Amino acid sequence: MAALSPWLRKGLCAGLLVLFGVAAVLLIVVLARTYSMKSPAPSDIWARMGEPRIEANFTPLERQELKEALKGAIRLQTVSFAPDDQNTTALAEFEPYIRKVFPAVFSATFIQHEVIGEYSHLFTIQGSEPQLQPYMLLAHIDVVPASPLGWDVDDPFSAEERDGFIYGRGTLDNKNSVIGILQALEFLLRRKYRPRRSFYIGLGHDEEVGGGKGAAKIVAELESRGVQLSFLLDEGSFILDGIITGLKKPAAIIAVTEKGAVTAELSVTSAPGHSSMPPKRTSIGILSEALARLEQQPMPNLFGKGPEALMLEQLAPDFNFPLNIVMANLWLFAPAVSSFLEQTPSTNAIVRTTTAITMFHGGIKSNVIPASANATVNFRIHPAQTVDEVLEIVSKTIDDKRVTIEATSAFDPLPVSPWDDETFGVQIFRQTILNVFPDVGSVAPGVCVANTDSIHFTNLTNATYRFNPVVFKPDDMPRLHGLNERISIESFEKQVEFLFQLIQNSDIDPSQKPHENVHELNQGAMSLLVLCAMQLCLFPLQPPGDILQ
Ligand SMILES: *[C@@H]1O[C@H](CO)[C@@H](O)[C@H](O)[C@H]1NC(C)=O
Ligand SMILES: *[C@@H]1O[C@H](CO)[C@@H](O)[C@H](O)[C@H]1NC(C)=O
Ligand SMILES: *[C@@H]1O[C@H](CO)[C@@H](O)[C@H](O)[C@H]1NC(C)=O
Ligand SMILES: *[C@@H]1O[C@H](CO)[C@@H](O)[C@H](O)[C@H]1NC(C)=O
Ligand SMILES: [Zn+2]
Repeated sequence: MAALSPWLRKGLCAGLLVLFGVAAVLLIVVLARTYSMKSPAPSDIWARMGEPRIEANFTPLERQELKEALKGAIRLQTVSFAPDDQNTTALAEFEPYIRKVFPAVFSATFIQHEVIGEYSHLFTIQGSEPQLQPYMLLAHIDVVPASPLGWDVDDPFSAEERDGFIYGRGTLDNKNSVIGILQALEFLLRRKYRPRRSFYIGLGHDEEVGGGKGAAKIVAELESRGVQLSFLLDEGSFILDGIITGLKKPAAIIAVTEKGAVTAELSVTSAPGHSSMPPKRTSIGILSEALARLEQQPMPNLFGKGPEALMLEQLAPDFNFPLNIVMANLWLFAPAVSSFLEQTPSTNAIVRTTTAITMFHGGIKSNVIPASANATVNFRIHPAQTVDEVLEIVSKTIDDKRVTIEATSAFDPLPVSPWDDETFGVQIFRQTILNVFPDVGSVAPGVCVANTDSIHFTNLTNATYRFNPVVFKPDDMPRLHGLNERISIESFEKQVEFLFQLIQNSDIDPSQKPHENVHELNQGAMSLLVLCAMQLCLFPLQPPGDILQ
C-alpha cells in the first residue's frame, strides 16, 4: 500500500481543519443565537404617562357581578342557524340586557351607542386627546346551535356553574369577549376613568354565518366616517398551555392572519351504457384518479414564507433543550423543522395549503355505467399563496382535460398584520399579557385556520390581531362549537382584568417615549460575539502549511 504523498496528506489535514473550524463557528453562532434571544420583559414605559394606572383589584361584589353578567348573556339563546335563520327574539333581547347590566357605559356623556343592522352594536368612546388614532375591540353576540345531547350539564343555555366553571354555548365563543369588554369599561368608568385615545367597540350579531349583516355594516358605517384604526383586536387564538409540544411555559399566540379558502367542484361526464360492455375507464374511475393525484401530491410546504417561522423563533427561548437551539436557528434547521411539522395534521395545516376531499357522488345502479361523477375538494390557503395560484397547481396536478374544475366559493388569505416591537398594537398586547398573566413565557404571532368577523375590516386597518385572553389546554379545543363549552370563573375574571388594563395601556402615545429596544441590544451583542468567535477560530487556520509540518 503506497503511502499518501506528503502534499496530499497536507491537503487532507488542512481540509479537515477547515471543516472543524466551520463546525466550531456554526456551533458558536447557533449557541449565541439561542442564548441571546430573550422574551422581552415588560418594561415600564407606561409609568411615564404621568398618571398612575388604575389597578384592577376587583371587589368580591364586582367579581360576583361580572360572573352573573356573563351567565345572563349565555342564557339568551342568540343562535345563528343559517344566514337567514337566526333567533331574532334572543338577539332583540340583548340590547335591553346590556343596558341593564352596564349602566355606566350607557350613561357616559363621551360614549355613543348605536344599533347597526338591527341587532349589532357599535360604541364610540371619545377620548380626551382626539389626535391619537383610535383602535377597536371586536366580539360577536351570536353563537352556533347546541343541543343538550352529550353535555355534562342539563342545558347548554342555562349557564350552570360546576367545579369553578361556567358551562354553556358562548362561554368561549364569544360572549366572554362581549361581556368582558363591556364589563371592563363599566368598571373603569366607575373608577372615574376617561380614556385619552378614542376607541370603538363592535359587537356583531351574525359572525357564525359570515358577518354580512353585522360586521360588514359596522365597517360600512365606520368607512363612511373616514375612520382608520391603529389596530383591531378580535377573537381567534388563545393562551396555549400544553398545546405546543416542548414549550416550558404557556404561550400567548396572537393570530396575525387567517388562512384563505377555495372550494373546487370536480366533475367528469362520459357516455352512459350497460355494465356488460364497459369502456376502459368510467367517469368514476377518471375522477378517482384525479382525486388520488391531489392527495398524493400535496400543495408545496411553505414553511418560512408565512408567519409560522417567526412564531417558532419568538417562542424559541421557552422551548426545552434541544428544541430551543433548533427554533432559535431556523436559518440552519428550517428543512428539518418543516418536514417534522408536516407529520401531524394540526401542524401540517400551518405549513401548507391543505387539500380535503369532502364529497363524492357517482353512480345510480349496480349495472349502469355512470354518465357523470363529481366531487368537492376544500382547500385552506396558506398566507403565502392565493386562490389563483392554488387553482393553477390543482389543474397542473390533475393534468386531465376530461376533468372539469370549477371554483365555487373562494377568498384569499387575509393580509399579514405587522409583527415587530415597533408596532403599537403589538407593544400594547405584549405588555398587557405579561402583566396580567405572569405565567406566560412568550407572546408570538400565529395563523388562524378559521375565519372571524375581522375579515370585513381590511379597509380600516392593516393591523388586525386575533386573540382571546383565555388559557387554553389540550382538552379545550373540541369544546369550541362542540360539547361542554365552558370557561373557568378565574379565566373570565382574568379576561376582564386584561381588557381593563388593555384599555388603559392603549392610552400611551408611542411617539412620546424614547425608544428602547431589547431586541436590538441583543442582536448587537450577538453579532459582536460571532465576530469574536470567528476571529478566534479562524486565526490558527491562516497559515495551514506551517501547522501541519
Ligand atoms: C330563541 O330565544 C328565545 C329567548 O332567548 C328562547 O326562548 C327560544 O327558545 C329560542 N328559540 C330557538 C329556536 O332557539
Ligand atoms: C354531483 O352529482 C350528484 C349525483 O350524481 C348530483 O346530484 C349533483 O347535482 C352533482 N353536482 C354537480 C355540481 O354537478
Ligand atoms: C375596500 O374598499 C374598496 C375601494 O373603496 C372596495 O372596492 C372594497 O369592496 C372594500 N372592501 C371591503 C372588504 O369592504
Ligand atoms: C395597508 O397597507 C397598504 C400597503 O402597505 C396601504 O396601501 C394601505 O393604505 C394600508 N391600509 C390601511 C387601512 O392602513
Ligand atoms: Zn367566534
